[in-house]
Amino acid sequence: MTVVVEAQKLQKYYNSFQAVASIDFKIHRGECFGILGPNGAGKTTVVAMIYCFHPISGGKLSVLGRDVTTEPRFIKSRLGVVPQENNLDQELTVRENLLVYAGYFGISRAGARKTADELLHFFGLSSKANQQVEQISGGMKRRLTIARGLIHAPEILILDEPTTGLDPQSRRLIWEHLRQLKNKGLTLILTTHYLEEASQLCDELIIMHQGKILEEGRPLELISKHVGAKVIEVEISPAKRYAFLRSVEHLTRNYQLAGNTIYLFIPTDETATVEFINSYKEVQTYRVRPSNLEDVFLKLTGSGLSNDEESYDE
Ligand SMILES: Nc1ncnc2c1ncn2[C@@H]1O[C@H](COP(=O)(O)OP(=O)(O)OP(=O)(O)O)[C@@H](O)[C@H]1O
Ligand SMILES: [Mg+2]
Repeated sequence: MTVVVEAQKLQKYYNSFQAVASIDFKIHRGECFGILGPNGAGKTTVVAMIYCFHPISGGKLSVLGRDVTTEPRFIKSRLGVVPQENNLDQELTVRENLLVYAGYFGISRAGARKTADELLHFFGLSSKANQQVEQISGGMKRRLTIARGLIHAPEILILDEPTTGLDPQSRRLIWEHLRQLKNKGLTLILTTHYLEEASQLCDELIIMHQGKILEEGRPLELISKHVGAKVIEVEISPAKRYAFLRSVEHLTRNYQLAGNTIYLFIPTDETATVEFINSYKEVQTYRVRPSNLEDVFLKLTGSGLSNDEESYDE
C-alpha cells in the first residue's frame, strides 16, 4: 500500500509549549485514518501541519512524497481541508461559496460551475444552491464545507472534527457521505473525539493524549487487545471495592476504576463472571455491555475521552 503521509519524530511547539511530542505515523492511500483524542490532545495541530498551515518544529513530515517544509504549495494543491471552525462566507450563496473557492485553485469558471453542481447534488444541497449560507442549517453548512474541500478534486481530504456540534441525524448523514467518498478511493484523514465516529469510519487510528500517541491500530484490534469482548460495569461501595476485586481475580484481572464504577473487562464469555457477581451480595447493581473504544481510552489513561455528555448513548 502506498504511504501518502509519513511523520517521523514530528514535533510542534507553540513558543515553549510542546503541543506535539515526537510522534511517528504513516497514512496509506485509500484509507480513512483517524486521529482520536480529547480536547487539547493535539489533533488540530497535527492536521494543520499536514496541510501546511502550521510549520513543524522538529522531525520530518512528508505528504504525497513531498516535504512540508520545502513544498507546501504542491501539497496544498493536492489536499482538501475541512477546518474545525466554520469559515464559509456567510454573505455569499451556497453555490458562490464553491465558485469563489474554485477561483483560488485557478479552476476555469465553466469547470467550477460543473463541479460545484455535481458536488451540491452529491451532498443533497442542490435545492439550497441560491440561498445565503447564513440561512441554511448547521448540518448543511458542514456538508457545504466538505463539498468546498473537494472542489479541486484533491487526493486527500482532511476533516477536523467534521460532525462536532451536529445532531445525531446530521452526523449520520455526513458519515454516509464520507463512506461513499472513501469507496470512490479518496484518502480521508479525520480528527474526532466521538468514539462511535472513529469506530464507524476509520480503518486505522491513533489515539492521542497530551501531544503523544498512546496507541495505534484498527478499532476492533485495539478493543480486543486492551479490553476484550465485554465490559461489566459494577457499582459497589468504595469500602467493599478491593475485597471484591480480589475475589473476582480468578475470572479477570483486567479492570479500571472510574468514579464509583468498576469496569471489568472480559476477554470472551462473561457468563461465569456474571454468575459470580450475582452471588456477591455487596454488589449494588451491574450492567453488561459490548466493549467500545471509550473503554480502550479509559484503560490507557484512567479517564474518559468525551468532552461532553453526548458521545455514545444517543
Ligand atoms: N496557536 C496556538 N498557540 C498556543 N497554543 C496553542 C495554539 N494552538 C493550540 N495550542 C495548544 O496546543 C495544544 C493542542 O491543541 P490542539 O488545538 O491541537 O488540540 P485538539 O486536540 O485539536 O483539541 P480540540 O479537541 O479542543 O480541538 C492545546 O494545549 C492548545 O491549547
Ligand atoms: Mg482541534
